[in-house]
Amino acid sequence: MRIDILTLFPEAVQPMMDASILGRAAKKGLIEINCIQIRDFTDNKQQQVDDYPYGGGWGCVMMAQPLKSCLDWAIEQAGPRKRRVIYMSPQGARFDQGHARRLVSEYDHLVLVCGHYEGVDERFIEKCCDEELSVGDFVLTGGEIPAMAIADSVCRMVPGVLSDPACYMGESHWDGLLEYPQYTRPETWEGLTVPEVLRQGKHREIEAWRREQQLIRTQTRRPDMFAAYVPQSPEERRVIDRLTGREKLTYDCRPAAEEDMPALLAIGAAGSAYLKEQGVAQWQDGFPNEEVFAQDIAAGGCWLFTHDGEPAGCVSLYMTPEPDYAAIDGAWKTPDGAPCAVVHRLAALPAYRGRGLADEMLQLCEDLALGRGRGSVRVDTHPDNRPMRALLERRGYGYCGVIELTDGAEADPRRVCYEKVLL
Ligand SMILES: C[S@@+](CC[C@H](N)C(=O)[O-])C[C@H]1O[C@@H](n2cnc3c(N)ncnc32)[C@H](O)[C@@H]1O
Repeated sequence: MRIDILTLFPEAVQPMMDASILGRAAKKGLIEINCIQIRDFTDNKQQQVDDYPYGGGWGCVMMAQPLKSCLDWAIEQAGPRKRRVIYMSPQGARFDQGHARRLVSEYDHLVLVCGHYEGVDERFIEKCCDEELSVGDFVLTGGEIPAMAIADSVCRMVPGVLSDPACYMGESHWDGLLEYPQYTRPETWEGLTVPEVLRQGKHREIEAWRREQQLIRTQTRRPDMFAAYVPQSPEERRVIDRLTGREKLTYDCRPAAEEDMPALLAIGAAGSAYLKEQGVAQWQDGFPNEEVFAQDIAAGGCWLFTHDGEPAGCVSLYMTPEPDYAAIDGAWKTPDGAPCAVVHRLAALPAYRGRGLADEMLQLCEDLALGRGRGSVRVDTHPDNRPMRALLERRGYGYCGVIELTDGAEADPRRVCYEKVLL
């Protein structure tokens, strides 16, 4: 990896790049970092690199010509390579580990252009730079510190610069988490002792502790990263559920009765509100209402789920075919006339979403369907209802096609259909 830093202050930057790990890597020929004085490429006697801004205003702007000549020289010296010219700019994309990984894997010549004063003539950026990177939402006097930060983070991932890729692969930001806390000798310092698990030499326990610490740290220090993190194993999923208080709960269920109507309506209303938040045009027209829940109860197919005696969710299950399903644009998984069960009105109160309730409700429907000799379960949902579609697909329901509801209860009657074959 060759990095050329175009700067007005090479004497400030070069010593830093030649020190410590990067200095040793350069001596071994693994990397080459050159700081090039832009002023050496002016075409005026005074070696002037900046001038007043057109339109007036404070300060001076770096001229395009010395920058372009300096860049051309660096390119000529480096020869043909996979090159990226990057302007250091507070207006650029916010640099992160992902950028560093991309730069080290896709290029072997980076040219980092450091602005100063009020910045550089826009035409140079437009004509000569491939991208702009910022090191954060603040303004520095020059691009030297950003260039040093970017060069450092890229170079430490060049093979051989660190003793082992594991050195950087386990660190903060590598896989979307922060690193666990680190300790060294002595065992006790200022009354604080190294956590016991790290002193016992049991590697599996140490690994588990460290992963949990990573999750705890990321949750408390970087909730944004924590929210975006996708668990890599069931064990991690369990830890995250525990940390977020979203462990699976245990539920009871029973056929709903007329006196459950207020709870059913509250659950239905919570479902409508949730779909509205998600921008889904389903259950937005006063549906599901008392009439439809009363029908479900009368048919014996409305099930109320509770947690600690409190209503949590409901689902309706019919053992008879749904008339609207006959006109499907697509194909059901089982032949017409084969006995099947149909799921409707699956909904949960907000406190129970993501806590295993929807799975339990579908499991009940599948068990009941099997118990009554139904070979499959059919269900429909709105095409934009991503959470429901994801749930169905995860539970092995296959996509069958599209229908239109004919009861006129909702403004948008389109529904996508799924079926799970049980027998
Ligand atoms: C004072 S700044 C110019 C800021 C510019 N007038 C603006 O408001 O966008 C001078 C130079 O410092 C560098 N610089 C300042 N802050 C930076 C940041 N957060 N990230 C990357 N480079 C930065 C850029 O190279 C910039 O040309």
